[in-house]
Amino acid sequence: MPVHTLTIDRRLVSARQGETLLEVAKEAGITIPTLCHLDGISSVGACRLCLVEVEGQGNLLPACVTVAAEGMVVQTHGDRLQRYRRTIVELLLAEGNHICAVCVANGHCELQDLAVALGIDHVSLAYQFPDRPVDISHPRFGLDHNRCVLCTRCIRACDELEGVHTWDMAGRGRHSRLVSDLNQPWGEATSCTACGKCVQACPTGALFYRGSTAGEMERDRDRLSFIASARRDRLTRGATQPS
Ligand code: SF4
Ligand code: SF4
Ligand code: FES
Repeated sequence: MPVHTLTIDRRLVSARQGETLLEVAKEAGITIPTLCHLDGISSVGACRLCLVEVEGQGNLLPACVTVAAEGMVVQTHGDRLQRYRRTIVELLLAEGNHICAVCVANGHCELQDLAVALGIDHVSLAYQFPDRPVDISHPRFGLDHNRCVLCTRCIRACDELEGVHTWDMAGRGRHSRLVSDLNQPWGEATSCTACGKCVQACPTGALFYRGSTAGEMERDRDRLSFIASARRDRLTRGATQPS
């Protein structure tokens, strides 16, 4: 398999064919902030938190969907990138209703972790205070649209790991929102198998187990990675076995 050599944060690193900058950086012990990315499911490059500078490129590139190439010179941190990332997180906080103290994900929330890592102690943008519903029609789970950051991790986990497609995104721009089946309440979505993979995939307190109170929504992301690699192994074995 061809191997490329490139530079990330002034370190020479090698990348296997098809590896993304995020994967290569991770293998080299370099952390790039992410939100819409989740190991084990496909990447869509939606949140832009993983933007990096690549020498010779006018635009910043999302590390989770940019394939490493020979000779690339990549910078993953710096004042400009920090400013972008802070603005993105502040926008996400201002666009929703994030009251961490009473949130089920308080202390286990990736958005909160990002805010802390980026030194955000207040939001300098005007809060939108949107009027969004909470769906607790499902017997086991709930969806609070006020905390949804539209990362689509739940959609991909449901589709790619469970093989169902209960979730989708409806609307555009600031009117975008997560919908189940044909825009029915989650409890009436007949495609849902109640496996809970979407709940495990959610980075914030938007998807939760009913009955959870503040700070109780700790997730086991390793379980999703395990399911993803088990599925991959099964598919690979199926493809290589003689028929
Ligand atoms: S999802 Fe909950 S813990 Fe995370 S930022 Fe929003 S309110 Fe805070
Ligand atoms: S419910 Fe959670 S996983 Fe789904 S789009 Fe919203 S924040 Fe992302
Ligand atoms: S993690 Fe790369 S764009 Fe969201």
